[in-house]
Amino acid sequence: MTLAGKHILLIISGGIAAYKSIHLIRLIQKAGGTVQAILTEGATHFVSPLTIATLCGRPALTDLFDLTRETEIGHIELSRSADLIVVAPATAHILARMANGLADDLATTCLLATTTPILAAPAMNVRMWEAASTRRNIELLREDGVAFVGPDAGDMACGEFGPGRLAEPEEIFAAIADHFARSRAPRPLEGRTAVVTSGPTREPIDPVRYISNASSGRQGTAIAEALAALGARVKFITGPAEYARPAGCEIVPVETALEMKAAVDAALPAEIAIFTAAVADWRITAPSDVKVKKDAAATPPTLEFTPNPDILASVAQLPAGQRPSLVIGFAAETGNLETQAREKLARKGCDWLLANDVSPGTGIFGGSDTHIVFLDAAGSEDWGPLSKTAVAARLAERIAVRLSSEA
Ligand code: C5P
Repeated sequence: MTLAGKHILLIISGGIAAYKSIHLIRLIQKAGGTVQAILTEGATHFVSPLTIATLCGRPALTDLFDLTRETEIGHIELSRSADLIVVAPATAHILARMANGLADDLATTCLLATTTPILAAPAMNVRMWEAASTRRNIELLREDGVAFVGPDAGDMACGEFGPGRLAEPEEIFAAIADHFARSRAPRPLEGRTAVVTSGPTREPIDPVRYISNASSGRQGTAIAEALAALGARVKFITGPAEYARPAGCEIVPVETALEMKAAVDAALPAEIAIFTAAVADWRITAPSDVKVKKDAAATPPTLEFTPNPDILASVAQLPAGQRPSLVIGFAAETGNLETQAREKLARKGCDWLLANDVSPGTGIFGGSDTHIVFLDAAGSEDWGPLSKTAVAARLAERIAVRLSSEA
């Protein structure tokens, strides 16, 4: 694997594993890449800036307030001139600073000032890795698009055992190489626009009660990420779901079906529209402004429902010119899958329909796996049991093929 012409900004933070960065620098250089290193204050206690500078063949930077250097290079330029920023080892502390946008030294200032992709290799004590705050920070950073390699599990310098060890330099190098291999991969949806709905909607009964369903948002999130990975600009319109933050997408949170419809209308025009949301079919006609009181003497309240607009059908039936080139719906059925799905494809007017059987016991609703039957005007295909991520990747590829044949 060659890294010829690739320039890596390596941020070394303060952990016992900092010495492994020496081997990592060697591996990058052997593959033809160049390295500019920044050491946090903590890192300088574990590895000498002189060693790193000698290896890299350029000064190892440590201090934001090195004014000469600041006028010569500047932290903005430092982070932008790199093809990839690698934080290795990434301590719990630097990850927390990154997750919260702190910029109190050169390393974190560069990290905040950049739009360059970031790969972090965490290294810390197992309890710190498992701490609720670290879990939260990792989750936030993933949502921000930071990629991770490791940590590995094993014996730790502190005498404990478990996940937290810095990934081996070879493993970090492989993740760097993989990053560049992927960025060279074709992005057939580059410049295309997509709208994806996801999750349940929530229809209020009164200020504290609502009607909803158990949609997890997994399939919609996976599809939005798969489209974004192929280069599409994705607006992700989501009800309150467990999975609601696809990386690399613009996220529009909504609650009710009416809000979802308004958000979809505002997101158009788009070339691709995919409706994975489990939209409530009805809403309460007149939700109460005050909490409905439980009165022992009274009979339970009767709820009056009004049908919600069918968002998918309204978009699929837009006049040519306003209609997205590809409108895709989902069907969750509990029997007669193909007959019901074929009828739904025609009634809604969408181009493709992905049907799945969500009968109790299948584990599909809310689960990570599914079983799709794909339908279009030409026929149907059984995709067999697949993970929702695999379904998303397959769908995104198919969309790319279809749109390229139109262009
Ligand atoms: O009619 P049914 O709810 O089974 O249709 C499912 C498909 O229609 C899904 O793609 C869903 O996102 C979409 N839908 C919608 N608006 C509704 C109901 C369903 O967009 N009100």
